[in-house]
Amino acid sequence: MDEQLKRLREETLAKARQFQRRRDELGKQPGAGPVNVPVAGKVFDEEEVAALVDSALDFWLTAGRFTDQFEAELAKYFGLKHAMMTNSGSSANLVALSALTSKYLGNRRLSKGDEVITTATSFPTTINPIFQNGLVPVFLDVELDTYNIDAGMVEGAISDRTRAVMVAHTLGNPFDVEKISRICKERGLFLIEDCCDALGSMVNGRMVGTFGDLATLSFYPAHHITTGEGGAVLTSNPLLKRAAESFRDWGRDCWCKTGCDNTCGKRFGWKIGGLPMGYDHKYIYSNIGYNLKATDMSAAIGLAQLKKLPLFMEARKENHNFYLDFFKKHEKFFILPKSYPGADPSHFGYLVNIRGGAPFSRGELVAHLESNGIAMRMLFGGNIVRQPAYEGEKYRVVGDLLRADHMMGNAFWIGIYPGITPKLRAHVTRAFDEFLSKF
Ligand SMILES: Cc1ncc(COP(=O)(O)O)c(C=O)c1O
Repeated sequence: MDEQLKRLREETLAKARQFQRRRDELGKQPGAGPVNVPVAGKVFDEEEVAALVDSALDFWLTAGRFTDQFEAELAKYFGLKHAMMTNSGSSANLVALSALTSKYLGNRRLSKGDEVITTATSFPTTINPIFQNGLVPVFLDVELDTYNIDAGMVEGAISDRTRAVMVAHTLGNPFDVEKISRICKERGLFLIEDCCDALGSMVNGRMVGTFGDLATLSFYPAHHITTGEGGAVLTSNPLLKRAAESFRDWGRDCWCKTGCDNTCGKRFGWKIGGLPMGYDHKYIYSNIGYNLKATDMSAAIGLAQLKKLPLFMEARKENHNFYLDFFKKHEKFFILPKSYPGADPSHFGYLVNIRGGAPFSRGELVAHLESNGIAMRMLFGGNIVRQPAYEGEKYRVVGDLLRADHMMGNAFWIGIYPGITPKLRAHVTRAFDEFLSKF
């Protein structure tokens, strides 16, 4: 590389670091305004800013060297063979489920009308790909204390059209993945683990995301690590890897990286289906795909964030445990969160779940929190079959979904991300104590 360019890059990166250090210094000065407790936020420093500027100076813009490295490091972190970056967790879910419909899978592929088991309290884009692929979601109820799919209902929900289970580890708390993956193996079903909120969660020493056929991640700013917009699909299955990559990259058959040609060594030597002999492999489409790729700028930030993941997880765990301890004294009002034996969750949020029959409503409690500057979020769409988007759509419900209804009316979550300091936690618990002392 040209020496002058190299020096200019180094100077630019040093300036970018200096800029962020100053911004961090200013951010640490005590603010004069009222206390605000967000549910989530970006936690970053000069490393992320320098990485972003470094990738901007490359001006590669699409997936490139940072993406290759980020994908390699993600795969290594999970001990899986492949990670494919996407432009969001929702895209990762769409790619993962679409991969199961690929012609590459022969007679194992899912076809229109096949069923996919999931839960009614899912995030919308965990289940939307089921509809978008012409498949039929089968909605199961949740457990009130783990706020996860009721694994005991899965076997009974399987019909002769059921082909897959696609479900999230809710708010980072692992669902009974050992049981569900065992059922899937026995019954020949695919399993997709939505780990968008569960990066780093473990079950008996094994990372969630490694139990199923495919797993997905989100790097939206609320998540364990962020790349701005971003996500990833993980798998060790070479066929599913090819299918997922194809759906992500326009549906093409070719697997050349951006900017590369002839990786297969016979770019003009393919004869597939009714195509003329030698048609350019770059323009052969074997899946009805999308373009859901991410950019190198996002991947560069992700690389810096991955290094901080252990510290982020520790902070989240500490905050979650703190709230769990605090709520014990208020157990008569709240169903406390529980994890399966052997689970070591990397939590996303703390679920506040008001018991049925409590002397106050969620609305009253939330209004009190909001007036104290404490933000909260619902458990996604509650019982999703009650959402207008799904009215009149084809799905199957198993059971009465009464617990999903309970979640819709009684639950919400508060932030535990690393930006929640002991001072903010104390503010939160004070506000809860103040409200609950009236009852
Ligand atoms: C469980 C779950 N799956 C998928 C997503 C979608 O991720 P994204 O916002 O990156 O599209 C989210 C979003 O937070 C989520 O919570």
